Amino acid sequence: MATPSAPAAEAVAAGCPVDHGHHGYSPFDMTDPFAAYAELRRDEPVMYDERIGYWVVTRWADVRAVFEDWETFSSENAQQPVRERGPEATRIMQEGGFTAYSGLSARTPPEHTRIRAIAQRAFTPRRYKALEPAIRENTRAALDRMLASPDGTGDFLSDIAFDIPTITILTLLGVDPAMVPTYKKWSDSRAAMTWGDLDDEQQIPHAHNLVDYWQECQRLVVEAHRAGGDNLIADLVGAQDGGAEITDHEIASLCYSLLFAGHETTTTLIANSIRVLLGHRESWEAIVADPSRIPSAIDEVLRYSGSIVAWRRKALKDTEIGGVAIPEGAGILLVMGSANRDENVFTHPEEFDIDRVDARNHMSFGYGIHYCLGNMLAKLQDRIVLEETIARVPSLRLADDAQIGFRENLSFRVPTSVPVTWED
Ligand code: HEM
Repeated sequence: MATPSAPAAEAVAAGCPVDHGHHGYSPFDMTDPFAAYAELRRDEPVMYDERIGYWVVTRWADVRAVFEDWETFSSENAQQPVRERGPEATRIMQEGGFTAYSGLSARTPPEHTRIRAIAQRAFTPRRYKALEPAIRENTRAALDRMLASPDGTGDFLSDIAFDIPTITILTLLGVDPAMVPTYKKWSDSRAAMTWGDLDDEQQIPHAHNLVDYWQECQRLVVEAHRAGGDNLIADLVGAQDGGAEITDHEIASLCYSLLFAGHETTTTLIANSIRVLLGHRESWEAIVADPSRIPSAIDEVLRYSGSIVAWRRKALKDTEIGGVAIPEGAGILLVMGSANRDENVFTHPEEFDIDRVDARNHMSFGYGIHYCLGNMLAKLQDRIVLEETIARVPSLRLADDAQIGFRENLSFRVPTSVPVTWED
């Protein structure tokens, strides 16, 4: 085992031969992290970053090994705020009765195993199939609205990608689709409060939003008990009546997770699919000519530009990752965005190639017991949006001046807009 990497200052003091300039890695800067990832993979694939208090893991094999070994590396810190909650935000959340806990991702076996088995039964192919015509219809209507813009330009993110998956998940859970803007606001607050770099003052409005969000999740469970319905919450409540071991608080926590995880990342996938495919015109032309290539193009978008580029674990005992000693209790940041471009796994990893045969080895949906429950729904929606868009407006292109930025965050790499234009 190699000498353990220690926090940077100590390492330098100890005469560590590696230059601890963090290799250009800037934890919250999502603009273009890939050069820094490549340097980390090459020079310090398991690096302690004292700015965030996490061990940053960047090689595919190490990321995969940690995801796989859930007994050593627990997901219990996956939803922990990266920045400590300030006193005022804490007070607001306590007084507002905020007791939400992760639906699944931060739960551990045997609790996780029990709840996941019940939740998985509610995620039936029947439900997906039933949603498909509405997803297609919503996409067509959104395209109509965007294409009617008098100046012939649009923002694919806000005009199309924003609403479609949000309407889908609200419908799946039996929530009024008119609530889209409210859920988007609450989701932004959740992403910022958990994975953002906010000071005490900045946290306050988000704390109020999270209280409202959690109260609504609890209300939805009460409503499902009262009125039933043909939706996922009613299915979970029905499972309870049928003897399934799941409490109302656990169902409300699942709602709290799904009403965020179920759209936020899919909005990003759709936006990234358009952004990256239009940015590689030959790939766009290839799917226009042959739409059956869309599923492999989606896998490549997920590899090349995932919605979540980093996810957390905690070491439950003294252990090692890639030969580097890791102490019990250490926080681990698994950088899937880097693993997905590991030259030991993918040939020419920095190239976007929709014909790549092994794109599905990406880890954008995680791996192991917590593997994303909604991956099929996310890909289904992206496929439908791409099919409808290439059929309707094959001339779509990025606006000439498209300078696309990304929001600051530790885990979620979200473009701020995807400006597009087209020919009539
Ligand atoms: C492109 C879209 C999506 C991406 C990139 C994504 C990514 C992820 C990742 C990285 C994890 C953690 C995996 C791990 O810890 O090993 C996860 C878990 C999860 N995702 Fe997704 N997700 C997406 C869409 C969805 C959708 C549409 C839903 C629901 C409808 C969903 C529901 C969940 C749930 C419930 C978990 C927790 C699973 C568990 O802990 O057992 N996700 N997802």
